[in-house]
Amino acid sequence: ITGDDMESKRIAAERAVEYIEDGMIVGLGTGSTAYWAIQKIGERMKEGLDIRAIATSNQSESLAKAIGISLVSFSDIKAVDVTIDGADEVDRQWNVIKGGGGALLREKIVAAASKQLIIIIDERKLVDRLGEFPLPVEIVQFGYEMTMHKLTELGCRPILREKDKKPFMTDNGNYIIDCEFGSIEKPVELHKEINMIPGVVDNGLFIHMADQVIVGFEDGSVKELRR
Ligand code: A5P
Repeated sequence: ITGDDMESKRIAAERAVEYIEDGMIVGLGTGSTAYWAIQKIGERMKEGLDIRAIATSNQSESLAKAIGISLVSFSDIKAVDVTIDGADEVDRQWNVIKGGGGALLREKIVAAASKQLIIIIDERKLVDRLGEFPLPVEIVQFGYEMTMHKLTELGCRPILREKDKKPFMTDNGNYIIDCEFGSIEKPVELHKEINMIPGVVDNGLFIHMADQVIVGFEDGSVKELRR
């Protein structure tokens, strides 16, 4: 990540935080773009903004706690007002690939509970067609070799994600398979097909979930996309 990328992520994140109002329940995304949103929320809270938040990962939860953002769980709330989260790719229909950081399952649960999902990205993540970024799929450990084989049958090269030479483990104790499709022609169908495979918990395709997409550019400008 270069300095410019960081800056374009930050400006997109800060624009999104302008949509947060007093009294809201806010979903906190995960990753290096959502990091800036969480920081900005912290700043606004010091200036008096009164919100409560729900995190999409242990990482974002720790960050929010360190900043002093008060956190709630699903036992305390009925819905989330707005969630601000990053993405790995966004196409022209605002279908999204997420999960590069491995948090896709909690991200999707929080997104599905949200009245509004704002996706924040830098310009390099806008694509005509999804799939150049390997699609992360969260699967249970039992029988993972068979689950990977079934994923192959959908036309991808599946790679078990590793960290420190061991399988990467999600916050939910599952594995992540990064599926290299190259190009995804029918994201709606593929999403269903993947989730039909026994052993798959969920995949990183977020279909018709984004309500708004905010893009930060390297020249320092920020654009709220219109559909
Ligand atoms: C986390 O699992 C992901 O869904 C992130 O939202 C996504 O990978 C974007 O990450 P960055 O903002 O770090 O690029």
